[in-house]
Amino acid sequence: MQTLTILRPDDMHLHVRSGAALRSVVPFSARQMKRAVIMPNLKPPVATVAQALAYKEEIINALPPNTLFTPLMTLYLTDKTMPDMVFDAAKNGIVAFKLYPAGATTNSDDGVTDLFRLHDTLQAMSDAGLPLLMHGEVVDNLVDIFDREAVFIEKIAKPLCEKYPDLRMVFEHITTQQAAEFVCQADDNIAASVTPQHLLMNRNHLLVGGVRPHHYCLPILKRETHRQALLQAVSGSLSHKFFLGTDSAPHAQNRKECACGCAGVFSAHAAIELYAEAFEEANALPKLQAFASQNGAKFYRLPENTDTITLIKQTQQVPDFYAFGEEKLVPLRAGETIAWRVVDE
Ligand code: DOR
Ligand code: ZN
Repeated sequence: MQTLTILRPDDMHLHVRSGAALRSVVPFSARQMKRAVIMPNLKPPVATVAQALAYKEEIINALPPNTLFTPLMTLYLTDKTMPDMVFDAAKNGIVAFKLYPAGATTNSDDGVTDLFRLHDTLQAMSDAGLPLLMHGEVVDNLVDIFDREAVFIEKIAKPLCEKYPDLRMVFEHITTQQAAEFVCQADDNIAASVTPQHLLMNRNHLLVGGVRPHHYCLPILKRETHRQALLQAVSGSLSHKFFLGTDSAPHAQNRKECACGCAGVFSAHAAIELYAEAFEEANALPKLQAFASQNGAKFYRLPENTDTITLIKQTQQVPDFYAFGEEKLVPLRAGETIAWRVVDE
């Protein structure tokens, strides 16, 4: 039986919602991960230190007894985020600001309308060493949904790097060869998170044989050549620039299976096992630990975790759904199997 023991991972991109939904999903992440960077796209958005600290408290209160799990809080960048808020955030342990171009995705209505008008704020982030986490898609209706990430690189990411050479940035949930190349060519203040779904699936998994709403997320799944480029990126010679960020984004079943389904894939129930499948496919299992447990911590200037988890190559059955407050949540691989499983301690 193949086994793999790695330092306990961190999830550097996680959505946990709030209220009963939050209480349903937080234990899944806390079982596998030591820390998680929590996304601020609630309604209303988490845009102040006070909101972030209250949100952190809510997450901690949802942890099962004796769980050591640390939420790393982020703030939602808006047109109104001022430089003093950046320094205040840094002082209060906020780990980053999240950029949602207005209208790009779930709860992004309060997002930034013109990033380059936030000059003083971006300069303050650069000075304070607080990373900018980018949802890297343009929202222009004339740009095809499959091209929105590549266009973002040319229109936003490259000019941003030129104007703020010291600004630390995470290109979140990258999905394209262009994004992987951009990150590889950039200095070490630029890194990227990669989701399990973008390593394991291409757009056929979304559209062939019927529309699969549970595979719909943003950025949308791309063609196979891009998936191959991502597998290459996380396993290649510049793999230290890429780290685990699930973008696990729970939505109730009825919000996914309807005429206008929400974007988001829920993967927190078996995140590390799904990544293990992807790394095994890329013949890169020896690199899983760095991706899952070291590269992200290093980028965020956090100590590495010291305890470990053990994976075994043994099929696990994924249920059709989990409880999600009063509703149902359909996880990635629902009703199917995953080739790896975490050994319970
Ligand atoms: O698919 C997505 N779901 N992409 C995002 O950027 C947001 C997320 C969510 O919050 O549901
Ligand atoms: Zn996200």
